[in-house]
Amino acid sequence: MLLGVNIDHVATLRNARGGIDPDIIAAARVCKVCGVETITTHLREDRRHIKDADAEAIRMLPRVRLNLEMAMTDEMQEIALRLRPHAVCLVPEKRQELTTEGGLDVEGQLDRAIKFVKPLIEKNIEVSFFIDPDIHQISAVSKTGAPFIELHTGKYSEAFGTEEEETAFENLKGAAIFAQNFGLKVNAGHGLNYQNVKRMHEIPNLVELNIGHSIIARSIFVGLEQAVKEMKTLCEG
Ligand code: PXP
Repeated sequence: MLLGVNIDHVATLRNARGGIDPDIIAAARVCKVCGVETITTHLREDRRHIKDADAEAIRMLPRVRLNLEMAMTDEMQEIALRLRPHAVCLVPEKRQELTTEGGLDVEGQLDRAIKFVKPLIEKNIEVSFFIDPDIHQISAVSKTGAPFIELHTGKYSEAFGTEEEETAFENLKGAAIFAQNFGLKVNAGHGLNYQNVKRMHEIPNLVELNIGHSIIARSIFVGLEQAVKEMKTLCEG
């Protein structure tokens, strides 16, 4: 499995003092040196971590694939069409949430989703929808023309090590297989850490995992390079 490192929390720390440290571009470079395939970052409507200039600077880095997570708004569509990142992951966004709390409701806004992704796909941007492991959402995505879904692993991550783990895991695995039968490629992420990530290998043909919080948290103790390398090794299996 490929690894996309979400570096938003490097910017969270930087923004705490409003200065330039820690340098988000230096962080992206460290990830790249460690062999990370993708740099993932969420340009939120409130710009609480990554700013527009950060996304632009990451996009300009040579041989770095940028996966831009963003809400399905006109503003974000315009930014994505201008930046032309390698990939865009469409996520729901609520101002008050601490992090992306659930998957996007594609089924409930299918017409809008189809219209929204069309110009992005025409620009050769790899579009994915961040959705819960739910067959109705998967069927809806299959009608949009987007080649990818990213499965929200939050429920599995929270259930890990409890009685609910097996059910949450089977939901995820079933959803991945269901999506692949529709011809969709499947990424996954949210809440994955150095323990619960191992079971992702039991899900066939996952393409990429997007992981942020656990890597940046571990980097405080062992350094970013070590934290990324450890996760990369786990993803490689
Ligand atoms: N994938 C998506 C679509 C996300 O929104 C996030 C959180 O920003 C992640 C992956 C990474 O989640 P975490 O920081 O819990 O690893």
